[in-house]
Amino acid sequence: MHPEALPRTDDLRPVTEWSSLSRGLWRATLGQMADEVRYTDLAAEPPRWATLAALPEVPFPFADGDVRVGLTPDHKVVIRLPLGPDEKVYGLGLQLDGLLRSGQVLTLNMDHWGTGGGRTHAPVPFYVSSRAYGVFLNTARFTKVYCGVGNRLGSPANPEPVDRNPPADEPQPGPWLALPPGDAVEAQVNAAGLEVVVIGGVTMLDVVCRYNLYCGGGALPPLWGLGFWHRVHAEFDADQTTREVAEFAARGFPLDVIGLEPGWMSKSYPCTYEWQRKRFADPAALASDLLAQGVRLNLWVNPYLSPASRIHAEMTPWAGSHLVWLGLVPDYTLGTPRRLLAEHFRREHVDLGVSGYKIDEVDGYDCWLWPDHATFPSGTPGETMRQTYGMLLQRLLYQDLFRAADRRTYGNVRASNGAASAYPFVIYSDAYDHREYLTGLSAASLCGVLWTPEARSAGSDREWLNRMQTVCFSPLAMLNAWASGEKPWSYASVADAVREVIELRMRLLPYLYSAFAAYCFHGVPPIRAMILEDAASGGACRRAGRLDGQANPYGLGSLVEATDQFMFGPSVLVAPFYGSQATARQVRLPAGVWYDFYSGTRVGSAETIQVDANDLGNRIPLFVRGGALVPMLAAPVANTRAACGADLEIRVYGGREGAFDLYEDDGSTFAYQQGAFRYRHLRVVDGVLSESVSAGAGPALFGAAVARVMG
Ligand code: GAL
Repeated sequence: MHPEALPRTDDLRPVTEWSSLSRGLWRATLGQMADEVRYTDLAAEPPRWATLAALPEVPFPFADGDVRVGLTPDHKVVIRLPLGPDEKVYGLGLQLDGLLRSGQVLTLNMDHWGTGGGRTHAPVPFYVSSRAYGVFLNTARFTKVYCGVGNRLGSPANPEPVDRNPPADEPQPGPWLALPPGDAVEAQVNAAGLEVVVIGGVTMLDVVCRYNLYCGGGALPPLWGLGFWHRVHAEFDADQTTREVAEFAARGFPLDVIGLEPGWMSKSYPCTYEWQRKRFADPAALASDLLAQGVRLNLWVNPYLSPASRIHAEMTPWAGSHLVWLGLVPDYTLGTPRRLLAEHFRREHVDLGVSGYKIDEVDGYDCWLWPDHATFPSGTPGETMRQTYGMLLQRLLYQDLFRAADRRTYGNVRASNGAASAYPFVIYSDAYDHREYLTGLSAASLCGVLWTPEARSAGSDREWLNRMQTVCFSPLAMLNAWASGEKPWSYASVADAVREVIELRMRLLPYLYSAFAAYCFHGVPPIRAMILEDAASGGACRRAGRLDGQANPYGLGSLVEATDQFMFGPSVLVAPFYGSQATARQVRLPAGVWYDFYSGTRVGSAETIQVDANDLGNRIPLFVRGGALVPMLAAPVANTRAACGADLEIRVYGGREGAFDLYEDDGSTFAYQQGAFRYRHLRVVDGVLSESVSAGAGPALFGAAVARVMG
C-alpha cells in the first residue's frame, strides 16, 4: 500500500490487512515496507511452522477495527492498539529496570544500557499483555512506544479531569493524576511502513513460546556451552592462559571455555582478527593443548576493521561512510563482505579449533557508533544498521561459519533484537548492578534473547559469592576477568562455596540441556520471569508519591516490582541473595507446593517465605515444585567432556512419583536438526524409576539413571 493511503495521525483508520500465518499468529503489512528490513529477515532459522500448527487455536485478541494505523505529517507510521483498564503490558526488550511497561514511554533504540527509557542492548519491539496476547513491531527502525500514556481527544475511556488545587469544600471525582491512564499502546515507527505481528495464546508463557517459534525456535547450545566459562585478563599471553587453566584443574574448579580478551589480537579497537604473535606464538598448539584437556577457546572481537588487517583493502569498498575507532564498518547485509570475514575467521581461528566468539561493541553509545545519517553500500539506512548490527554479526558467525562447518557454537554478543531467539549468543553488559542483572534474566525471557549476569569482581567476599551463585543459574555461567584478573577462588573465605555452586551447575547439566531443548523445539525460555509461571507471583504495585517541589513536583509514585527471583528450567525456582539482601531475603512461592532443593523438605505454597544464608549453609536458595523430577549427574565433573556418559541421579520432590523427558543428542553438531536426538522418558512410581526411549535415531548422551527420593 502506498504511504499516502494511510491517514494522518489525527484520523487513524482501522487495520484490515490481517492475514493469518498459523495458530495464534496474524500479520499486517502497513504502508511502504518494500525497502524496510524486518527483524525476521535476519532470523537464524525459519519459523517452526509444524510446531505452531499443532498448538491450540486461539481467537484474534482485538475486536474488529480496534487496531488503528496512520501516518504523521512527516511520514512516520503510527499504530494504536487498545488497552483495557486493568490490562498490563510487559517486555519491550532487555530492560534491566523492570518488566512492567504500563504507564511508560520507551525509546527503542539500540544502545548500551544506561538509565532506562528503552535504549538497551536488545530493544526488542515486542510486548506481552496480561490478557495473553503479544504484539511484535517487526521493522528494524527506531521506535517510540507509549504504553497507556497519552489520552486521545474524544476517547470515551478518558477519565474525568480533576482540579489539582481545589478549594477544600469542592468535591472532586477522584484524586488528581499526574498521568491520567491512557486506553491504548501507541507506537511511532521511524519509517513510512510497518509490519505488525499479533500473537495470541492461552497464557503469557504460551504467547512468548509462539513468538519464539515464529522467530525460528530457541537456540540449542552445544553441551560444552553450558559448562563454566572464564575470560582471562585482556593482556594475558599463551603461557599465562595455560597456567590459568592448569590452576582451575589444580584447585578442582570446573572449566569448559577460556575466553581471550582484546590482547590476543595483533591490533584491536580497530581489529585485525589476526593473532598477536608476541603473546600467542603458536595459537594452533594452544587450542589443541586446551582441547586435549576438554577446554575450548573463545575469542573477543569487535566488528571494526583495522587498516593493519590483511582483509582491509578488500573490505574497504564494502564499508559504510563512517569509521568506528578509526576502523571500517563493513556492510554485512551483503554477501561479499560476509564471505570475506567468514573466510578470514575460518582460516585464522575456527580451523585452529576456536569454538566461538564474544561480539563486543555492537550497541553504542552514540559517540562511539556511526551517526544515524551514515550511509552503507547496500543502501541500508544507518539507523536500521544500528538496530541490527549485532544480529548481522550473529547471522554471519552462526550461518556462514559454524552451521556451515556442522559445529555448534555458543558465545556472547552485546546487541541483539527482534527475532533473535535461535541465535546461540548470550547478551552481557558493562553495567554491573546485581539487582539489574537479576532483572535481566527475567526481561530476556520475555523477548527471545539470552542474558548473562556475568561476574567480574566484587566489593566483598559475600558479594562475590552472591554474584557467582547468580551467574551459575543463568544461560552462561561466566567470570569475565578482562579488567580485574579475578579468579573464582580470589575471595578466600568463599572459595569453597563458589566451587560448590559451579559443581552444582555442572551436575544440573542434564536438566538444563533438556530445558534448552524445550527452548529450541517449543520456544519455552529455559530461564523465565515469574510472571510467565504465575502472574500473581511477579506482582507489581505502585507506591504513592510525595509532592516535593524540587525532587517530585508531580508527586509521582514509584513502581515496586518483584523481579529478583526466576524459574530455571521447568521446575526450579531460584531466589539469589544480592545487594541489600546479601544474606537474607523474601521469596514469593507461586501456587503449587514447593520443596527445598537441597533437603527436599516442604517449604510452602502460594506464600512469601523468609530465607537466610546461614540456614542454607551459604548456598543459593533453590526450590522445586512438588511432583517434579530433577535429573542430575550423580557426581560433579571437571567439564562437560566428563559429563558425557556419566551416571545420573534423578531427584524426586514432593512424594515418590514424577516424570521427566530427558533430551539427548550428540551435544555438538547440527545433526539434531535432521532428527538425530532422542528423549528418555523417565518415570518414577512409588520411588522406583523406569525409563523408555523415544523412537528416533539419536545417540545416548548421559549414563545410567537411579532415582533418589528427596525429603
Ligand atoms: C568492553 C566489554 C568487556 C571487555 C572489554 C575489553 O566493552 O564489555 O566485557 O570485553 O570491552 O576491552
